[in-house]
Amino acid sequence: LALNTPDSSPELVQIVRGRRSGLPISVAIHSTALGPAAGGCRIAHYPDPAAAVADARRLAVAMTEKNALASLDHGGGKAVVALPSPDRPSGTGRTALLHDLGDIVEALGGRYITGPDVGSGPPDMAVIGERTTHVSCRPVEDGGSGDSSLHTARGTLAALGAVAKETYGSPRLAGLTFGVIGLGAVGAHVARLLAQAGARLVVTDVDPATRGLADELDATWVRPDDVLSAEVDILVPAALGGLLTARTVPLLRCAAIAGPANNQLDEPATGRLLAARGILWAPDVLVSSGGVIHATGVELRQESEEQLTERIDGIAATLRQVFHTARTRRTTPALAARQLAGQRIRATRREG
Ligand code: PHE
Repeated sequence: LALNTPDSSPELVQIVRGRRSGLPISVAIHSTALGPAAGGCRIAHYPDPAAAVADARRLAVAMTEKNALASLDHGGGKAVVALPSPDRPSGTGRTALLHDLGDIVEALGGRYITGPDVGSGPPDMAVIGERTTHVSCRPVEDGGSGDSSLHTARGTLAALGAVAKETYGSPRLAGLTFGVIGLGAVGAHVARLLAQAGARLVVTDVDPATRGLADELDATWVRPDDVLSAEVDILVPAALGGLLTARTVPLLRCAAIAGPANNQLDEPATGRLLAARGILWAPDVLVSSGGVIHATGVELRQESEEQLTERIDGIAATLRQVFHTARTRRTTPALAARQLAGQRIRATRREG
């Protein structure tokens, strides 16, 4: 088996037209060096199937890094269902595409374990589970570990403590201002936890219906276009990826960025632009790992809630290690995290 570190090309990329749905379904398995690839299934609108495959490949590499950094015995993979329009399929159309996906996962024989991601949740996992056992986060009443989004949010809070410490010398979040970008499943939990911790909030979402939550949390609402340039202490990307680019980095007025959105940097070089502006960036592969830690811990390792809390809080220690490496070796947190993931993969492979 190839020793696939985050720098290598993927083990498998496939695109299959769903037998029932007719939709293009991509699966990328980046690495199984540490174990079966784990990663969610994204159901979203893409301009064309090629863009969806490219996204699956990038998201799969991120899962390899995420799982290695979380010390999970899992490689990285991702599935992407490319919708032809922004409308989300419902009813029998949705069931058809989930059964197609289940068949595709099953045919991979356990090399890839799917789960929830943008556009999919526990009820969808139950339907996928009608066609394959290699699915995590089915509802608790069906024997799964259920919704992972709160656990992803808990990990995000742990990471934000490490970021506050690195930036302001104290992990206290109370009194700091956070700009939360996206109030979806994970972002809403993050905003609530931050409000409970006594933080001040600036929030946005493309869906105006989320303004109710903003009011409830006493948060300042800004338009999506204005959030990147909002004057906040820490920006928290919790929506889709690719928001940090050579065009947007000059607009930023924050001290640090740390959030659960996957693939926030459009390309690795953007990490250097952030560093050059003195903005601390916490690698998304670390910040967002609470969900997969919880799901695989409950379902595959029978870990107790206590052990899981320890692991999820452990994100802060790994992040501090990454910041330390970046500072002392004069590299970016993005590269330091990638190197650490590569080291963990090589070390585990040698023992095994
Ligand atoms: N969507 C999650 C992520 O990007 C992946 C996940 C898979 C979460 C399985 C829970 C369970 O990290």
